[in-house]
Amino acid sequence: MKLFLDTAIYEEIEQAVRWGVIDGVTTNPTLIAKAGHDHEEQVKRICGIVGNVSAEVVSEKSDDMIVEGRRIASWHANVIVKVPLTTEGLAAGKVLAGEGVRVNVTLCFSVNQALLAAAIGAYIVSPFAGRLDDINEDGMALVGDIVAAYRQQEIKTKVLAASIRNPMHVTQAALAGADIATMPFAVLTQMFNHPLTEAGQKRFLEDYRRTQEAKPLAAKR
Ligand code: G3P
Repeated sequence: MKLFLDTAIYEEIEQAVRWGVIDGVTTNPTLIAKAGHDHEEQVKRICGIVGNVSAEVVSEKSDDMIVEGRRIASWHANVIVKVPLTTEGLAAGKVLAGEGVRVNVTLCFSVNQALLAAAIGAYIVSPFAGRLDDINEDGMALVGDIVAAYRQQEIKTKVLAASIRNPMHVTQAALAGADIATMPFAVLTQMFNHPLTEAGQKRFLEDYRRTQEAKPLAAKR
């Protein structure tokens, strides 16, 4: 499972790229608003340091989404155009996918919706796990169901577990067979943490310093 960051904040992406653990970024209009920069400039800047950058259309009619989607796709080869899982969004996504644009169908909340996304040739479908949990439904169960249905039907569309809220969600997405999980920077950071890793590393360094660094330089040769 590939790890993506769900953010438009450049500094967070830069840090995660330096750690070498992310393969992409997902943005949406809310995340772009939070980052507080011009959409095009920010997406191009992000594409400069990481591949697979989802950028979302904000038009409401399919004809307008097609024009907007083509424009967004022209910004950079790393761009994946996000369209909403609505009739208008899917109609636009079909045309864009037919033109060779990689399309991410977002706001997916059911297996049937995921089948519709696959039907238009989407490159990615994004089930929003956390938002289902918010309304007392099992978001990760949906991710697993979509993976199972796609496998059964030999569908190639990638399943991207989105709306991830905690590190447990990441583990669950991997176990459910998701191709990608996108998460906030805080969750990525939490993935590194384990008290035994911290304690173990502290002990290794203390033991080394106590026994090796105390020796004079000549004794080391
Ligand atoms: O990028 C889409 C998705 O991950 C949003 O997550 O936390 O706003 O439900 P959230």
